[in-house]
Amino acid sequence: MEDMAGDETSFYSKAEVYWRDVSPTVDGMLGGYGRISNIDINGSKAFLHKFLGDGAGQTGRGVALDCGAGIGRISKRLLLPLFGTVDLVDVTQEFLDKARTYLEEDGQRVGHFFCSGLQDFVPESGRYDVIWIQWVIGHLTDDHLVEFLRRCQGALRPNGLILIKDNMAYEGVVPDEVDSSVCRELPMVRSLASRAGLRIVHEEQQLDFPKEIYQVHTLALR
Ligand SMILES: C[S@@+](CC[C@H](N)C(=O)[O-])C[C@H]1O[C@@H](n2cnc3c(N)ncnc32)[C@H](O)[C@@H]1O
Repeated sequence: MEDMAGDETSFYSKAEVYWRDVSPTVDGMLGGYGRISNIDINGSKAFLHKFLGDGAGQTGRGVALDCGAGIGRISKRLLLPLFGTVDLVDVTQEFLDKARTYLEEDGQRVGHFFCSGLQDFVPESGRYDVIWIQWVIGHLTDDHLVEFLRRCQGALRPNGLILIKDNMAYEGVVPDEVDSSVCRELPMVRSLASRAGLRIVHEEQQLDFPKEIYQVHTLALR
């Protein structure tokens, strides 16, 4: 990852070029694993429900932010059914364009479609109950991920939560030259979150995914 820092510009521009060529479909979002989307969404729903409710200290259901949203696979099935308003941010304009039709009626409750890299994106202070960051952290350098998470913390409402759901390497950092990303081991992701001043409130491994793919963990942070 540190090696990557010198070549930061091409790390980001190669990823942009890669995603520009990917079809704006669920299968495209999941690298050909569209069939795992249901299991993924159901797992996320169960995870998130632990924090949503009317009691004191529960997370609100006002506004959510979908980071690296792509065509809005997660917004459609997880966030729009649970939150009044959802904002999407992604670096690929074509995916956001597709989201406008893919989200159908519920798309009317999208607040903003932001076309930006997360490394440059500044979420509005105090706006979000939930910030969902899935299958995109590997596209940020360590320092940019830490800085982005810090900005996310400032963008939370009281009792708000940041969720990271992503592939975790078995050991160390595994680079992917094809989409220009890295896959970090879980202890590294925890330590980057802690560098950002965030505390892990809850953590789970997603079960029932195919054996041949990376293990996927969800971290709730605030
Ligand atoms: C594997 S897809 C996941 C999409 C969505 N999170 C999901 O789970 O369906 C990765 C997404 O991250 C976006 N992306 C890649 N690099 C990014 C960056 N630096 N900032 C924001 N989005 C990025 C891509 O355009 C793509 O939509």
